[in-house]
Amino acid sequence: MEIVICEDAAEIGRIAASKIIDLVRRKPTAAIGLATGSSPLGIYAELAHAVARGELDMSRAHGFALDEYVGIELEHPQSYYSVIHREVVERLSMDPARVHVPDGRAADLHSACDAYEEAIEQAGGVDLQIVGIGSNGHIGFNEPTSSFGSRTRVKALAPQTRADNARFFDSLDQVPTLCLTQGLGTIMDAREVVLVAQGEHKADAIAAAVEGPMAAVMPASVLQGHRYATVIIDEAAASKLQYTEYYRHAWNTKPERAVSAAV
Ligand code: GLP
Repeated sequence: MEIVICEDAAEIGRIAASKIIDLVRRKPTAAIGLATGSSPLGIYAELAHAVARGELDMSRAHGFALDEYVGIELEHPQSYYSVIHREVVERLSMDPARVHVPDGRAADLHSACDAYEEAIEQAGGVDLQIVGIGSNGHIGFNEPTSSFGSRTRVKALAPQTRADNARFFDSLDQVPTLCLTQGLGTIMDAREVVLVAQGEHKADAIAAAVEGPMAAVMPASVLQGHRYATVIIDEAAASKLQYTEYYRHAWNTKPERAVSAAV
């Protein structure tokens, strides 16, 4: 894992967005795994600027959302379908036909999950998956004890997650109890994974995910086994890590950075 400690949310957005910009320039039809939540908003803002300046064309890229609530109306402002279309598809001028969100309103949810896995495969797999992290260590909606081999499926939301997400709804009882989420195995199949997090309330989860044992009770720790996983966080989210000095040193002396600084 590469750990990048940033000054603020804007820097997190810039560094993570630059990976996507490089990728889409190299491969205009790249498949990007999209996350909801507040953490990736800085990435989308940076990408939106690049699109507005004519420096990035996302119109041929594919998008696959990580997750969706079960039973929520598509038009509900907090359905992940709405969030992804509002925050990503529109702002980045993506082709809506190429952007997928698991169908939380399907009559047969299990088939919808299988169809989602198939759609990812049809697109040639996810090139770069963006993930945030829940305060309990979930990625997507893979709650603690999710199998490291799991695929897109129906999950029950943890009480902690419903409480955390209640801020987006009028009251706690309006937060759905079930969701569809890409599995940890699905996420691990992405060619690259970029986890972004900011704030002290993420510090415990980040410390456990990065420096704790790989364990199903800490779903984000699965990323320790990924060949190309980058964790981009602010000082507050990094505040409970042990080896920050090393992470800063490794980032500052990274050969690619030395090369680009020299150019
Ligand atoms: C939700 C999403 C996750 C996200 C998490 C953290 O539960 N399903 O994908 O990472 O919230 O959200 P935030 O970035 O707002 O803290």
